[in-house]
Amino acid sequence: MSFRELRSVDDITAYYRHGIELYGLESPRTMGYQTAPVDDRLIKHLLPENVPDSYSVLDIGCGLGQIVPILSDRFPKSHLETLLGIDLVDDFIQHCVAEFPAHEFVTKNFLEWDSPRRFDIVLAAGVLVTRIDQYETYLARFIEKMISASKSWVGFNVIANQGAGYTARHLATISSESLTSVLAAFPNVSWQMNKLEVFTGSHDTFVCGTVRI
Ligand SMILES: C[S@@+](CC[C@H](N)C(=O)[O-])C[C@H]1O[C@@H](n2cnc3c(N)ncnc32)[C@H](O)[C@@H]1O
Repeated sequence: MSFRELRSVDDITAYYRHGIELYGLESPRTMGYQTAPVDDRLIKHLLPENVPDSYSVLDIGCGLGQIVPILSDRFPKSHLETLLGIDLVDDFIQHCVAEFPAHEFVTKNFLEWDSPRRFDIVLAAGVLVTRIDQYETYLARFIEKMISASKSWVGFNVIANQGAGYTARHLATISSESLTSVLAAFPNVSWQMNKLEVFTGSHDTFVCGTVRI
């Protein structure tokens, strides 16, 4: 995909819209994936082991709502009482509204949105990976807001390194030292970090936090 430099949230919106024009709404390439099943497997690393009998999820950067079937596979005995998906791109949100009428979806920049309540699980899968000016400050603000919307669990991934041969200049990477120092600002959360290969030679750090409120 050709792209202009990503500097702001508006540029991120334009980047995904451009992907829709090039590849179509439902192509894994629009989301920056190689194949959908690989990424389904990876998203599971952002979820807790267990959920209450009835649970709620805030899915930030919900894209096409890929999380919905993953949740029912992972927690077949629990009832997904509320799922609220939020995304910058209205085409993705309109798709989710049509596909998952039992759930709620809103077109919004998460950083400019006030959460109406706290959710058991707050996720940002594949969201904090694109370049933006002052990436670490952006990441810290995003995490702080995720925590304030969560009753017990947050999960997100960031890129640790890109493999040799990858020239994805639109992606942001963060070292484990820098990430650890960003996370240290939130002492009310117990963090776990898990580094996993996403594409050949490229690793993401999957970060899960148990929130004490
Ligand atoms: C790679 S896609 C991942 C979609 C979905 N979470 C998944 O795993 O299939 C990243 C999504 O995050 C959205 N996004 C990025 N920054 C956002 C922000 N600040 N607020 C809301 N959505 C955002 C993008 O529009 C895009 O749809």
